[in-house]
Amino acid sequence: MASIITIAQQKGGAGKTSLSIHLAIAFLGAGKRVGLIDLDPQESMTAWYKLRRANFAPEDDLALRPASGWRAQSEIERMKKDFDLVIIDSPPHAETSTRLAIRMADLVVVPVQLSPMDVWASEPTLDMIAKERSQALVVMNRVPPRGRLADELRQKLQDDDLPLAQTSLGNRMAYAASLMEGLGVTEFARGTVAADEMNALMGEVLARLDNDQ
Ligand SMILES: Nc1ncnc2c1ncn2[C@@H]1O[C@H](COP(=O)(O)OP(=O)(O)OP(=O)(O)O)[C@@H](O)[C@H]1O
Ligand SMILES: [Mg+2]
Repeated sequence: MASIITIAQQKGGAGKTSLSIHLAIAFLGAGKRVGLIDLDPQESMTAWYKLRRANFAPEDDLALRPASGWRAQSEIERMKKDFDLVIIDSPPHAETSTRLAIRMADLVVVPVQLSPMDVWASEPTLDMIAKERSQALVVMNRVPPRGRLADELRQKLQDDDLPLAQTSLGNRMAYAASLMEGLGVTEFARGTVAADEMNALMGEVLARLDNDQ
């Protein structure tokens, strides 16, 4: 049975879809069979998946299945049987499906960008995760190379006892550029800092899932 990883954050543009895709491809590179579920009506993960299939149609162990509305739960459960991991991308505003995806998750990854507004806006998502008794992992995203703000916000998140990932993701062109090719950053830019940090994050995610079992 697969582990379920939900990527959630009510703040728009935090990096949910990017993270869903790059993590999925990192797991694929590590030999896992990965199922994708796109709960966002914007369907950006679906658009990327179609591009991937159209561009180079690789025979890989990656599949995306539509799962909207009332069908979501049964589709997620079905995917759980067929894959090692199921990764669920969720919409920016809390919908019934977001709560369901959080409830069903073994781990909820919450990308947070480095501004006070983004940190405050994470609270409803973290509350929902706590209410549903799911495990959260907060990931700082688009972190600039240096600066006091990043350190201060990291400190604040730690002081608040949030489950903060040690790996943070930089603000890097490779994240967007790889998506344009239907790829993940670990395929597109192997050996770069961006690929290395995504692999490191995958390791942290796996460690959390293992601890959970
Ligand atoms: N680490 C990063 N470095 C550079 N650009 C990034 C990074 N993470 C995300 N982006 C860019 O930020 C924008 C928003 O990212 P993304 O669409 O993944 O966010 P989202 O949370 O899924 O948004 P929405 O709430 O609309 O679903 C995109 O243009 C994406 O390419
Ligand atoms: Mg998105």
